[in-house]
Amino acid sequence: ILRMTDLDLNGKRVLIREDLNVPVKDGKVTSDARIRAALPTLRHALEAGARVMVLSHLGRPEEGVFDESASLQPVADHLATLLERPVPLVRDWLDGVDVAPGELVLCENVRFNKGEKKDDEALAKKMAALCDVFVMDAFGTAHRAQASTHGVARFAPLACAGPLLAAELDALGKALQAPAKPLVAIVGGAKVSTKLEVLESLAEKVDQLIVGGGIANTFLAAAGKQVGKSLCEHDLIPAAQKIAEKVHIPLPMDVVVASEFSADAEAVVKSVDEVGENDMILDVGPQTAHVFAALMKEAGTIVWNGPVGVFEFDQFGAGTEEMAQAIADSNAFSIAGGGDTLAAVDKYGIADRISYISTGGGAFLEFLEGKTLPAVAVLQQRAKD
Ligand code: 3PG
Repeated sequence: ILRMTDLDLNGKRVLIREDLNVPVKDGKVTSDARIRAALPTLRHALEAGARVMVLSHLGRPEEGVFDESASLQPVADHLATLLERPVPLVRDWLDGVDVAPGELVLCENVRFNKGEKKDDEALAKKMAALCDVFVMDAFGTAHRAQASTHGVARFAPLACAGPLLAAELDALGKALQAPAKPLVAIVGGAKVSTKLEVLESLAEKVDQLIVGGGIANTFLAAAGKQVGKSLCEHDLIPAAQKIAEKVHIPLPMDVVVASEFSADAEAVVKSVDEVGENDMILDVGPQTAHVFAALMKEAGTIVWNGPVGVFEFDQFGAGTEEMAQAIADSNAFSIAGGGDTLAAVDKYGIADRISYISTGGGAFLEFLEGKTLPAVAVLQQRAKD
């Protein structure tokens, strides 16, 4: 893949696709991790004297109409603060953008354009005509083959990977393609069904697979344990059994249960063999958390996606907290990704002690599934041409 940092950008029209799809509330950005992650790329292009045009989507608005609630204006304002320079937001940018060398503009939400999602060729060609160099830097959207991620890369005079995309691919490659051993993956979250392919793919690669949350309940049921009223996908028990035959999955020996799912539910620690029919498992127990923490200590590489308990409620957060601390304390190369995981990383204040935090949600999962990301594949193709 061609990399942006290998190109001379001076005076060039540089179109950079970022993933600035961040949460916005009352016109304000409420979590700016993705915007911050894009800053080094944008600064590099500005310092190199490029005429910088930034693209992103926000939310999932209807195509073909302007929708104030999905406008990138809050992102433009926030970016201006972080970059300490004006960031004009250009509403109608498809027919041409005026930007001086060393200056930057943000183009309004790419998903307002008809044809964006279906990767329309005419639309992609219009985008490509805006630039001398197209930079794909939106790792978080690299699993989407859309006009601003994939199509434009086919037709732009030059198409390359930006520093953020390159860093994501390097880190994920290091974790999964040539990992320091043992490689331990933690896959938590509510449902096996949403992560089945991730579990199947990781089962082929990792030395230990730790499952947590509702996912663990299905594995407990697959091992013949009673899970009471817990979230559990009984139809996926055969799939869970198959996965458990391929890789060592340390199952919880104790759990934290409650009689209902609520913020003030009383938490009770039980041995996994004592779970009753009215119990809901909402966290791993302390003994299990210690065992998991010990595995983190010995790991050479840790891949983390998903909490092991309902950590939004403090009384069911101890398992996820102990794991988070163990990952932070570990000497392993550690990588974390996904919305809930990053919320846990923030809650327990360990962001600085994880080797790499991915900006990808769906893209991170697809990478773990072993899939080729279309917006990366097109760059590889262009590099061969
Ligand atoms: C994400 O938040 O996962 C990405 O920005 C992709 O958004 P999408 O799922 O709406 O394509």
